[in-house]
Amino acid sequence: MRYDPDKLVEHFSNPPQDISLADIDLDRIPRHISCIMDGNGRWATSRGLSRTEGHKQGIVALRDVITTAVRLGVDVLSAYAFSTENWGRPQHEVNVLMHLFAKTFIDELPLLKRENVRVVFLGDISALPQKTRDVFEYGLKECEHHTGMVLALAVNYGARAELARAARTIAEQVSAGSLAVGDIDENAVAEHLYTAGLPDPELVIRTSGEMRVSNYLLWQIAYSEFYITELYWPDFDKWGMLRAIAAFQHRDRRFGGLSAE
Ligand code: FPP
Repeated sequence: MRYDPDKLVEHFSNPPQDISLADIDLDRIPRHISCIMDGNGRWATSRGLSRTEGHKQGIVALRDVITTAVRLGVDVLSAYAFSTENWGRPQHEVNVLMHLFAKTFIDELPLLKRENVRVVFLGDISALPQKTRDVFEYGLKECEHHTGMVLALAVNYGARAELARAARTIAEQVSAGSLAVGDIDENAVAEHLYTAGLPDPELVIRTSGEMRVSNYLLWQIAYSEFYITELYWPDFDKWGMLRAIAAFQHRDRRFGGLSAE
């Protein structure tokens, strides 16, 4: 774990009553934390605001969560920003989101540089509008040499599409003679996923109380612990992260075996 103790303590100053830094074990922080950011729309509607305002506030929450993950020394933070099914939303909302993704990436470059964060995209970004792709390509280049936390943004991501794509690539390799059928094992499949080279999420956080996986990282979450909070994503923050990690640390992870105790 890489973290700066002074910055960490400062980041978590003035805690609320129910949680503080002292409630978690810094030696057992999940290496990969993943967020299903849900409830931007409901957050906005419940305040009489437009859904666009909800997404803008969702970005503020994401910024706090990124900084928090860096402070805690997390290796990988992933977040579900846009699913393959989200194209079915009204065209206006899709346009707003595409614009916000590009704008956010540019706006947050100073933060990503300051904190040495490398960005990777999970999903088929070739299907995004050209402008968004151009910005993503520029941003990716700007932080490709960073060596700190990996921020994996799932954009135009669907787990079934990801698995079908892996199957296609593996089949191509077999028919080209570069891979033997007998060599197709779990590692071979994992190497063809968007998350190749990244550890699986140990903790998945979903906001707004929904008990669903929504076609997210189906392969990678085989042994992930889930933390569901009723908070809408824009209300989620560093304290929510600490609560999720504290809950994670109280779980008995058996991976199909027996408890250590
Ligand atoms: C879920 O709320 C949120 C989204 C579909 C988009 C989330 C995206 C961000 C917070 C910004 C991410 C930024 C980058 C740079 C990738 P919802 O609209 O599903 O809310 P609802 O379920 O209440 O309608």
